[in-house]
Amino acid sequence: MYELYTVLAEYYDAIYRRRVERVKEEIDFVEEIFKNDAKREIKKILDLACGTGIPTVELARRGYEVTGLDLHEEMLTVAKKKAEREGLNIEFIHGDALDMDFENEFDAVTMFFSSIMYFDENAIKELFNSVIKALEPGGVFVADFPCWYYGRSDRPIVWNAEKGEERLIITDWREVEPATQKLHFKRLVQIINPNGEVRAFFVHDVLNIYTVREMKLLAKEYFEDVKIYGNLKRSLSPNDQRYWLVGIAP
Ligand SMILES: C[S@@+](CC[C@H](N)C(=O)[O-])C[C@H]1O[C@@H](n2cnc3c(N)ncnc32)[C@H](O)[C@@H]1O
Repeated sequence: MYELYTVLAEYYDAIYRRRVERVKEEIDFVEEIFKNDAKREIKKILDLACGTGIPTVELARRGYEVTGLDLHEEMLTVAKKKAEREGLNIEFIHGDALDMDFENEFDAVTMFFSSIMYFDENAIKELFNSVIKALEPGGVFVADFPCWYYGRSDRPIVWNAEKGEERLIITDWREVEPATQKLHFKRLVQIINPNGEVRAFFVHDVLNIYTVREMKLLAKEYFEDVKIYGNLKRSLSPNDQRYWLVGIAP
């Protein structure tokens, strides 16, 4: 189920190369949220579901004291190597976000790149509860998630990527189950080495769809103040394709 985060972990940044290139813009936006929405100065950040550390490393580069937590050791191994290479001091924790037990330790908790979709309506309540416990009063939670409407694709989308001398051919399908609000994310990754040998991996993740209204209602039960912004701007427009949840801890 989690092949993308285990056997394919070392290919994750190659698969999401465009996101790696864009991460500075994301963190610029998150810093805008820190300055304008948080009710305290942000110094210490917990990046939940940090994966290979694409945003975690960028936050640390900007001088924040960062802890990254992820369920998959293979993803953390990649993240640790990147931090070491840049001489960044990031604490990485292997674990489930639902098992964390921090108390008033962070000024901000982040959860990037749709990771919140791994949490169904019971799990997300547990998550919000642990997040407000982990935050100092006035601290901020930031998580981005996509609009289900734009997320679906009836036909496979084929694209390619490169890692060193290896070429990757990636085929994606995304099926929406309207009644259960589940998004079936299916991906075939074929890795071709310079000798023409091919390895193939199939990924099938089941993600939870949230509308803006649902996310707001759920978050309001836990956070003092809740906002949903559009992509990389502190306002929401009717056709935004990605949303940013911002919650302030009581
Ligand atoms: C789409 S990736 C995003 C990684 C990273 N946040 C980024 O922006 O590139 C989703 C990540 O969520 C992690 N994950 C899924 N469920 C989790 C859980 N219950 N606790 C911690 N991490 C989890 C996966 O291991 C994976 O690294």
